[in-house]
Amino acid sequence: MKPRTRANHPPQTELPAGRRALVAPIYQSVKFELEDLAATERVWGGQEDGFHYSRVGNPTVRDLEQLLAELQGREACVATGSGVAAIAVALIALLSQGDHVLCFIETYGPTRALIGHTLARFGVAHTMLSIEDHSGIERVLAARPTRLVWFESPTNPMLKIADIARLTDCARRQGALTVLDNTFAGLEAHGQYAVDLYVHSLTKYASGHGDVMGGAVIGSAELVRRVRAQATLLGPTLDPHAAFLIQRGLKTYHLRRAAQCATAGSVADFLAGDPRVARVHYPGLSGHAGHALAGTQMRDFGSIVTVDLRGTAEQSRVFADTLQLFAIAASLGSCESLIVPPQLQQPRDLTDGERRLSGITPTTARLSIGLEDADDLIADLRAALDAAFA
Ligand SMILES: Cc1ncc(COP(=O)(O)O)c(C=O)c1O
Repeated sequence: MKPRTRANHPPQTELPAGRRALVAPIYQSVKFELEDLAATERVWGGQEDGFHYSRVGNPTVRDLEQLLAELQGREACVATGSGVAAIAVALIALLSQGDHVLCFIETYGPTRALIGHTLARFGVAHTMLSIEDHSGIERVLAARPTRLVWFESPTNPMLKIADIARLTDCARRQGALTVLDNTFAGLEAHGQYAVDLYVHSLTKYASGHGDVMGGAVIGSAELVRRVRAQATLLGPTLDPHAAFLIQRGLKTYHLRRAAQCATAGSVADFLAGDPRVARVHYPGLSGHAGHALAGTQMRDFGSIVTVDLRGTAEQSRVFADTLQLFAIAASLGSCESLIVPPQLQQPRDLTDGERRLSGITPTTARLSIGLEDADDLIADLRAALDAAFA
């Protein structure tokens, strides 16, 4: 071979039989060559399992999918390039023209937009209630054939706790499927309930380091097969290198989550004791409306703490701008602490009535607790409150 040819057909080192790298190699390859044309015909035709094109399947991504399915306690998983990609393919796989969806005022904003605007253009109808409106939920599901109930628990940013057993029982009785966006609760949470599909943004706790995006849809082999078919057509593919980074993040997921939740508890206790804070929304506090339910449903109380300051929106601005250890930034579940201040929190698509039901006020700020020392975070919050109320 001439050098130019050799450079395009380089040597590949294989490990001797029976030996393995402790960290699996990253299959950063779009294409896979099979042993001959007959095998290629079988795999391309779907008669035989195997990898041939990374939009359809990739071994590094498959390792991650298997691990996530196991953690969630379900059969199968499709990984995607972001959390919203997972949401979009799950919706498209389950819904058809003429279907009705029940979703909630507290549902993540882009999910509300996908259901209420994008899918509405294709003839999908929806009803939006508050997740706390139990009788409304039962009434709508009894009155109107519903294909899908889409919900979250705890909700973003008010951390309301959905009654999952009640919701899934009611949906099943009425023949509706349920999808739970489980991002806030964590990768192992809520597996004990009869939820049909779980969605996660892997951008948050799974990767943990704020340097990679990803998403996952998890459930029975049959439902996930339908989601994967749409993912293959639409192409929200997770890159193998991103899958590797998420897997690396997962090795410390349990340690990070436990530390973050413990610190969140201390931060919530501190804020609840400060007279300049009107309300602290944290399911771990005994005064939280969903405390008892969260205690039975969740594995922990999460690492998000939402506060309403007693002052004005302007004082909340000073509070956010004074904080040194909480970055004003999107996302959550990272190693560093973050704040979304009220100015960035307001759901602009909701009517005044819906906004009232959401519970978000002009001084609502969401804190995502990182891995810093709890004392340092509390000192930083105290200093920011001092500045805001000086
Ligand atoms: C509850 C929830 N679901 C889904 C997403 C979307 O995830 P991603 O940003 O990875 O697309 C987010 C992002 O904030 C979220 O909070």
